[in-house]
Order: sequence, then structure tokens, then C-alpha cells
Amino acid sequence: MSSATTRVQTLRGLIQLLVNTSELVIKEWETEEQQPATHESQVIPASGLPPHELFEAQRVIRAACGMWMDLVEDPRIRLLEISLSYAFSQALDTTVRAGVPDILAEAESPSDGISAAELCRRTGIDEHKLVRLMRMLCNGGIYNEVKPLQFSNTRVSRVLADNAAAKACSSVYSTKLIVEAVEHLPATLLDPEMTYSTSPKETAFQKAHKTTGTLWDYIEKGDTSDPAVLEVREMFPLAMVGEGQMCSPSLIADFPWGDLGEATVVDVGGGVGSMCLELAKMFPRLRFVVEDLPVSIEKAKSIWNTEVPGAIEAGRTQLITHDFFHEQPVKNAAVYFLRYILHDWPDDACVLILSELREAMGSDSRILVADMIIHPPLGSRHLKSAPAPLPANYGRADAFKSMHDMVMLSVFNGSERTPGQLGVIAERAGLTIEKIWECRGPVSITELRLL
Ligand SMILES: C[S@@+](CC[C@H](N)C(=O)[O-])C[C@H]1O[C@@H](n2cnc3c(N)ncnc32)[C@H](O)[C@@H]1O
Repeated sequence: MSSATTRVQTLRGLIQLLVNTSELVIKEWETEEQQPATHESQVIPASGLPPHELFEAQRVIRAACGMWMDLVEDPRIRLLEISLSYAFSQALDTTVRAGVPDILAEAESPSDGISAAELCRRTGIDEHKLVRLMRMLCNGGIYNEVKPLQFSNTRVSRVLADNAAAKACSSVYSTKLIVEAVEHLPATLLDPEMTYSTSPKETAFQKAHKTTGTLWDYIEKGDTSDPAVLEVREMFPLAMVGEGQMCSPSLIADFPWGDLGEATVVDVGGGVGSMCLELAKMFPRLRFVVEDLPVSIEKAKSIWNTEVPGAIEAGRTQLITHDFFHEQPVKNAAVYFLRYILHDWPDDACVLILSELREAMGSDSRILVADMIIHPPLGSRHLKSAPAPLPANYGRADAFKSMHDMVMLSVFNGSERTPGQLGVIAERAGLTIEKIWECRGPVSITELRLL
């Protein structure tokens, strides 16, 4: 078959997919409008979690649009767009730090928006320069120019308005410590020695910051007179709450937490325990132990006292300082939960972390690993495949997971992993993958049991 014939068939297949899935989206929107009180999306208030069919349709649409663009656009433009994409993220970060989404949220009506002059007055940014940033971001669907030089939020920037955690989650990737690490990825991978290192202390992060310590050393023990250290130290725990807002609803809804009864969930490297906070509110019988390094545990105390008053005094939640490379103090817990932990570490360190948990587990214990799963392009027996002509891994729909993987590589020699890679680490620690719970969000839950 000629390549033109293949392209025609692929394009037709994509159009058909888009028609079918768009009809599904339209039907969902109409149902939502007619029965707001009984619709599934209302069952989990304010979570923004779509019903399963809608989630799948959204994923297929994103994948199909990406593949469609790959088929028809000028490859030279695509290359330029990728090379310049940092300009987009830096412009977004500038407006977020300047509070633009919050100011736009004050508009009396979205159709009037807020004037560029007013934005300039409130942010202190030169008007002509700010307008250039705003217009680029409008092209990317972040803001709207509703009338000449009048701007409003879109459904994307509204997520950030008056939401400190969402803003921290967006801005943490633009902090000096992280951006400079990613900038040093090419030099690190092209360095004939560093390229083979699997040490968390020989990464682009150390090359960029001329240090032997890790990001965690900076956060725990870094020089607090250095603004770059202070920035990350302040922002990181809040950014984790923001990441939690994005993925907790699906992690909660798509795993049978309610079946655990009065079980204890140990949140290993739990930060301030933001996932357990949500679980505590929804499942009053569950008990929690949140473990982390001292800075996070100190911050966790006031957050828990505000969010779930009485949980600490009643002994329902314990906050303890614990280094996960040492013996796990809580034995035989029903669940050891690790969200955004293994992705921070190279394989050998993950095996050590899991081995400490394995020693503490009883026969009914399970480890739940909540990380982004990298879906191999040709599929995995653990994961649902996309419909043809999309690649089995949904292509561009999940491309940001691989971008996240690049950050993990740059900062930690860590990795977002495929099911196969997770399986190898699990087996080295005497564990096996029982099931991957695919959730309606960027993060899934991999359940590990004793081998
Ligand atoms: C990416 S954050 C995830 C936090 C939390 N699990 C969540 O999802 O919000 C990684 C956490 O690992 C913690 N951490 C790093 N090294 C640790 C160690 N050796 N022992 C315990 N916690 C550690 C950090 O302090 C940080 O809170």
C-alpha cells in the first residue's frame, strides 16, 4: 500500500473516531444539563471527575487530535514549536506568579474581562510586554481576549484562580532548582561518564547546581539564605497538595478504599499526608500513619489540625518522622501507600524502599504505588489499549507523563515506569504486581503483594 493510501486511511479512521467520541461527549454534556442532581459527575462534588465513558472519550479525542496534527502539519513548524515550548511555560509561570488568574476572576462579567491597563497596574508588568505574553497564552487556550485588550480566564486558567495549591503545582516546575536541572539534561546525557550513572547524586540536578546533594537535601538542609532554596522549600509541600487535587479524586474513586473497613493506611513518604487527608474525610473508619522527613511532618501537624480536627488527638492519625530506607516501624498494615515516591528514585533505591516494606508486610498486606504509568507504544497486558488507528498507548493524549519522566530523570535519575519496569523492581524486592488500577487521571495505582 502506498504511503499516501495509508495516510488517507489513517486520516479517515481518525475522523470516524473523532465523530463517534464527540457524539459521546455531546450526549454526556446534554445529560449533565438535563439531570444535574443525579449525574455521576455530581456524585463526587467539585472533583471535576468525569464519568468513565466521558474520560475515555476525552482521552481518545486528545490522542486523535495529536495524531491528526502529526499527519497534516508541516514537520518544520512542529520542530520549532517543540524547541520553543519553554517560552510557553515561562510565560504561563510569569502570569501565574503575577496573580493574573486571580485578577481575571474578579471581572464582573467574563464577556467584559479585565483591561490590559488594569492588569498592568495590578501586576506591575509593562503593559506592552504583558499583552504579548497574554496573547501567546490565548493562542494556547489559557486565557481569552474577549474584546481588544480585554482578557478573561478560560476553563484552564480558572483552575488556578484563588487556588494557592494549584498555582504552586504549576510554578514548582519553573523554580530555578528544577528548571536549571532540566536545562542540564543534554550536557549530562552527552557526558561520557554521567550518562551511565544510576546514582541519585550524579544527575543533571547536581551538574546544574554544582552540588553533591539531592533536591531532598536542599529542602531539608539547604542554605535558607539562598532564595532558590527558600522558594522550593516553601512551594514544594503546597505543590504536592496541588498535584493531589489533580489526581486524588480519581485515586479515591477508582480504588475500593471503602472495602478496607477500619484498616490502617501507612502513607510512606506521605509529605503532609494530603492523600490521607482526603481519605480521612471520605472514609471515617480508616486509620492513618503519615511518615516523612522532619520538615514535612512539622508542616503536616497544622494542616491536619485544620482539615481533620481531632484526628491526631484521637489517635486516628499518627504523623511520624521516618526515613523510608530504614526499618519500617508499622508492621502488618493493610496498606502501605506510596504516592510520587518510587518515581523520585533509581531502580536500586526503589528496591531498597520496597524491601523495607516487604519485611514489615503480613500475608494480607499490600503496597499501593501511585505514580504515572508509562504505557509502552505497543501496549501492555496490564493496561487498556487505545482503539485503532491510535497507537496502543494513546500517543499524545498522555505525552505529559513522559515529560514528567524527563523531570524525574533530570532531578533524581528517577523514572516514571512501564508496568514491565515496575514488575522487575517488585520482583527484586520479593513482590509481584497483583493488578494495575487504571484511574481517571494522570496517576494510576499499582497493587503489589508478597511474591
Ligand atoms: C514527591 S513528594 C510526595 C509526597 C506525598 N507522597 C504526596 O503524594 O503528596 C516525595 C516525598 O518523599 C519524601 N522523602 C524523600 N526522601 C525521603 C526519605 N528518605 N524518607 C522518607 N521520606 C522521604 C519527601 O520529603 C517528600 O515529601
